[in-house]
Amino acid sequence: MTIEEIRKIRDEALAEADAAADAASVEAARIKYLGRKGLLPKIMESLKDLAPADRPEAGKLSNELKNGLAARLEARKQALGQAAPARAAGLDWSLPGRWRGLGSRHPVSLVIARAADIFRSLGFTVADGPDIETEYYNFDALNTPGDHPARDSQDTFYFSSGQPATAGKLLRTQTSPVQIRVMEKQKPPVRIIAPGRCYRRDTTDATHSANFHQIEGLYVDRNVSLADLKGDLTHFARQMMGADVRIRFRPHFFPFTEPSVEYDFSCHVCGGKGCRVCKDSGWIEISGAGMVNPKVFRAVGYDPDEVTGYAFGMGVERIAMILYGIPDIRMLYDNDARFLAQF
Ligand code: PHE
Repeated sequence: MTIEEIRKIRDEALAEADAAADAASVEAARIKYLGRKGLLPKIMESLKDLAPADRPEAGKLSNELKNGLAARLEARKQALGQAAPARAAGLDWSLPGRWRGLGSRHPVSLVIARAADIFRSLGFTVADGPDIETEYYNFDALNTPGDHPARDSQDTFYFSSGQPATAGKLLRTQTSPVQIRVMEKQKPPVRIIAPGRCYRRDTTDATHSANFHQIEGLYVDRNVSLADLKGDLTHFARQMMGADVRIRFRPHFFPFTEPSVEYDFSCHVCGGKGCRVCKDSGWIEISGAGMVNPKVFRAVGYDPDEVTGYAFGMGVERIAMILYGIPDIRMLYDNDARFLAQF
């Protein structure tokens, strides 16, 4: 080999190292030049045939090839992110990682959890009752007699009489039966909330669902008054929606409370001036409440001359929708992860 040929090989080798596109090309260049049967050993072989005057220059060039190329190949490998051990294990550390989506809590669960926190701070505990109820707990004990329109099979899901386990039973239309179950087991004072599913034969639309959630509240003790109800609901509303939220009661009727009210929160979006969220009324309807009817106390063996109490129910989906600005209740049940991941 002539000096010129050796110089050309050196230049090509260095250029090839810099241009290697991946780990395999780096390795291929190493083998081609520095390998046992590569070009460098061939150059070394041929040195003895050179004219003695050319030998120092040829020696210098082949050294540059040997050390220079090794360094360039290593640098290239680093640049490509291919650490030697990873390559050896057959791993490509430069590949992007696989994304595993993190789950998130459902807005309905979030509202229930926050409500439970708020009422716990007022001394309430969380109670529970079955979704499949008897007529007694869902209606009779709540002073809702057999001819009451709420019992109409248009409104209530009844089980067929065919299955002995569920004959005569129904899907609870409200969480109020939990009031009865708790009071049957416990002497006053009572301070509970009861979140849970309810079922009604409603046609589904943007604001109605046959399956929805309520949070029931019950506070029984000596001298509990409507003012306690208003104060506690106001505290709840402010914790939940914002410090400036006000509350108002409107007269209403429920068989199991007397007097009964429906209650509204002032709109947390416009502060009561009127906007799209509150349909320009300044108020948002939450649900019903009232003072526990003495007949309900008698049904559970409490003495209405000894104790009084308030009870309330609230629609969880309603609160979730106004709190998070969800325009359609059905979004809460579609199980679309793109929607649910936003909360
Ligand atoms: N259970 C009633 C409803 O579903 C709400 C309510 C609860 C009213 C407790 C008064 C007291 O509409």
